[in-house]
Amino acid sequence: MRVLGIETSCDDTAVAILDEGHVLAERAVTQEAHRRYLGVVPELASREHLELLFPLLDEVLDESGLTRSDLDGVAVTAGPGLVGCLLVGVSAAKALAYALGIPLIGVNHIHAHLLSAFIDDEPPYPFLGMVVSGGHTELFEVRALDAITLLGSTLDDAAGEAFDKVAKLLGLGYPGGVEIDRRARNGDPAFVEFPRALGGRDTLDVSFSGLKTAVRTFVTDHPDAGRDGFVDDVCASFQAAVVDVLIDRMARAIERHPVSSITVCGGVAQNSELRRRMETLASGRGVRLHLPEPRYCGDNAVMVARVGLDLLRAGTRSGLTLGASASLELVDEALRASEVVS
Ligand code: KG4
Ligand code: ZN
Repeated sequence: MRVLGIETSCDDTAVAILDEGHVLAERAVTQEAHRRYLGVVPELASREHLELLFPLLDEVLDESGLTRSDLDGVAVTAGPGLVGCLLVGVSAAKALAYALGIPLIGVNHIHAHLLSAFIDDEPPYPFLGMVVSGGHTELFEVRALDAITLLGSTLDDAAGEAFDKVAKLLGLGYPGGVEIDRRARNGDPAFVEFPRALGGRDTLDVSFSGLKTAVRTFVTDHPDAGRDGFVDDVCASFQAAVVDVLIDRMARAIERHPVSSITVCGGVAQNSELRRRMETLASGRGVRLHLPEPRYCGDNAVMVARVGLDLLRAGTRSGLTLGASASLELVDEALRASEVVS
């Protein structure tokens, strides 16, 4: 079964073809137009998706040696995300499915992240999955393809958003996660004890807005601000606070929902300290940690095709009335993006 995946939910335009578990070809372009604005500009992003999408589709078909009529299904991210961006992908997928007479499968973007470590493997159900990206920080129990329960989420900023906002206030550019990760390697994580919000509460939720404010308050007019290594120390201390919180919630989740596998996915799952600490946690608790390859941590179409393939096998299709939803939820019903028509 050859499934085309399309991902346009934010600022990455991505197309991939998966043949069962094998990636035949993939393309992902992170739009550069947003850098100068230090954040994603929705209108610019949808226009770029429109320009990039079909040329990328031709490239993946060329590389895989297939023609459009060799495809058995089209999977597309239907939400959550920026609605104008989602609509570009959903409209293209609907047109292709209709013209080729093949199934259309609407995929929830978070569901796609949750399976991004299992592109060529069967997901080890049940497992715990933490999605940490620029738009999301959520922890799920994933019992089956269509049985996913939200255990906790952020009350305010997403983890990646906190990285990006702190990078911006430190003058490190956008997106800031990679740069903070890099600077933190030379810094002292014990330089400042930034707050670990909600630590004392019996919850699997997180909150990062106070942390971001604490960093701003600390660096504003700080007498050491010009010192060599100051920014590296702040980066290391901030990163330690974020990672401590994420590790604490995963540790609590393992206690409450015993499983033998966990996964951490989304753009922030590329963070070297988070990966290292999750490995330590997993080996200490006797669970297996599944991390996506770094290129499948960020938004990509391979993970969308991956979920599409499993939904297709399960007999799930979307109708041509499939819409885009900015706030599509993924709670106890992974198939919500798709209407069953067969
Ligand atoms: O999943 P993603 O590509 O896009 C969505 O938000 O859906 O995630 C992007 C986020 C950005 O906030 C970026 O700063 C963060 O992932 N990120 C990182 C690292 N690489 C990317 N955060 C921390 N450490 C990194 N190495
Ligand atoms: Zn994402």
